[in-house]
Amino acid sequence: MQHEKSRQLDERARRVLAGGVASEFRKSAQPLFYESGRGSRITDVDGNEYLDFTLSQGPLILGHSNPQVLQAVQEYSERGQLFAGQHLQELELAEKLHELIPCAELMRFSLSGSEADHTAIRLARATTGKEKFLRFEGHYHGWFDNVAIGVSAPDEAALGSRENPEKIRWTKGLPARIEEEMIVLPWNDLELLEQTVAAHQDEIAAIITEGVMCNNGCIPPRPGFLQGIRDLCDKYGIVFILDEVITGFRLGMGGAQKFYDIVPDLAIFGKAMASGYPISVLCGRRKMKGGKPLMELIEKGEVIHAGTMNSNNPSVAAALATVQVLEAENVHPRLFELGQSLMDKLREAAREANQPLLVQGLGPMFHTGFTDETEINDYRGTFAYDKAKLSHFIGAMHERGLRVIGRGLWYISAAHTEADIDEAANIAGEVLREMGSA
Ligand SMILES: Cc1ncc(COP(=O)(O)O)c(C=O)c1O
Repeated sequence: MQHEKSRQLDERARRVLAGGVASEFRKSAQPLFYESGRGSRITDVDGNEYLDFTLSQGPLILGHSNPQVLQAVQEYSERGQLFAGQHLQELELAEKLHELIPCAELMRFSLSGSEADHTAIRLARATTGKEKFLRFEGHYHGWFDNVAIGVSAPDEAALGSRENPEKIRWTKGLPARIEEEMIVLPWNDLELLEQTVAAHQDEIAAIITEGVMCNNGCIPPRPGFLQGIRDLCDKYGIVFILDEVITGFRLGMGGAQKFYDIVPDLAIFGKAMASGYPISVLCGRRKMKGGKPLMELIEKGEVIHAGTMNSNNPSVAAALATVQVLEAENVHPRLFELGQSLMDKLREAAREANQPLLVQGLGPMFHTGFTDETEINDYRGTFAYDKAKLSHFIGAMHERGLRVIGRGLWYISAAHTEADIDEAANIAGEVLREMGSA
C-alpha cells in the first residue's frame, strides 16, 4: 500500500493544524487522510480501501453514510439549521429516549460526551452539597479539567497502591489542587469500593463509571459490581453517574443500564446515538431516591446547562433516523452474533498461530491484546499486554486493508456482513501466522 498523498497532506497539515490533527486521539505513526466512507469500508486519499472496525471511534453503528440518516439530515437541514428555540423533532427525540432509556425521566442535549459528563458532575455536586467524585482508573469521561486525572499511567508502578492510587495528571494546564476534587480507585473491586466510600461518604457527591470499561481493554463489570455501586449510592446519598457514551445504543436500545438491569441516577449518551453527528444527552431522574432534586435543578435553572448549537437540526435528525433504523431493523442481535463470530474466529486463528491473543468483550465491541493472562479485570491488568506486539499486529492488518482502533478495540456495525467477518478473520490470521514465524 502506498500513502504518498496522505504523507504530503500531513506535511501541509502540520503547518496549520496543531500536530496535524483535530483531536489528540488521531495522532498516529502513519497519519492518513480519508476521502470517503460507505457501509463497512473507508477509502483514503491514495485510493486504499479498508474494511473498517474503528467506526470513527464508535459512532457509526449503522456503518458509513447510512442512506436513511443522510436523507433525514438533508431534509431537515433544508428547513433550517438551528432555530435557537424549540422544535418538534427535538421533542420527538426526547420522547423516544424517555421511552427507551430506563433512567431518562428528564434530559438535556449537548454536542459531545465531554460536555454532558461535565454537566453531570456539576449537577451531582449541587444535588448532594458534597464536592468530590469517585472515578475509576483507566476510564475515560472526556477531556475536560474535572476528569483529566486517573485516565492513564506510564506504567503499573506509577499507579501506586490499590487502596490509595496516585492521582496522575493526563495533561498540563490543570489548576492546582484539582486532585482534591476526586477519589480514584481501581475498577471492579467492590470490597475496596465499599471500604473507600464508607470512609469518605460525607465528601462524595458522585460515583462515575463506564458500564463496560472500553477505553482500556474491553472489560465487562464483574457480576454484582454495578449493583454494588447502586446500593452504595442509595445507602450514602451519592449520585450514580453511568457514562454510556460507548455502551449507549451499542449494547441495546437502553444501553448498559438495560443490558445489566441497573438504573443509575444520571447517564450520558453520545457516539452511536447519531451516526457521527454531534449530539449527546444527559438524562436522569427528576429527584434522587430520597427526594433531593436532581434533573429538577436544571429544570429550575439552579444548575446551568446551555449551548448555542444544542439540538441543532442536522444532529437531531441524524439521531432520530439512527434510532429509527436501529429499532426497525432490530440491529442488536446481529451485532452480537457477528461480533461473537469474529471473536471466536480470532481466537481460533491465534491458537493455530500459537499466539497468546486475548480476545475480550461482548460482541458489539471487543478488544484484542497479547498476553498469557486469560482475563483482564481492571486498568492495572492491562499492563500485562504486550503493547509493541499489538501495535505490530494492528499496523500489519492495516497494511492489508483492515482498520482497527490502535488500542486494540474493534467495533461492529449493522453494515458489516458475514463475508466482512470472514475477511477480517482471514487477514488477522495471516498476520498472526506471520508473527508466529518471525
Ligand atoms: C466513555 C466515554 N465518555 C465520554 C467520552 C467523551 O465524549 P466526546 O469525545 O464526545 O466528548 C468518551 C469518548 O470517547 C467516552 O468513551
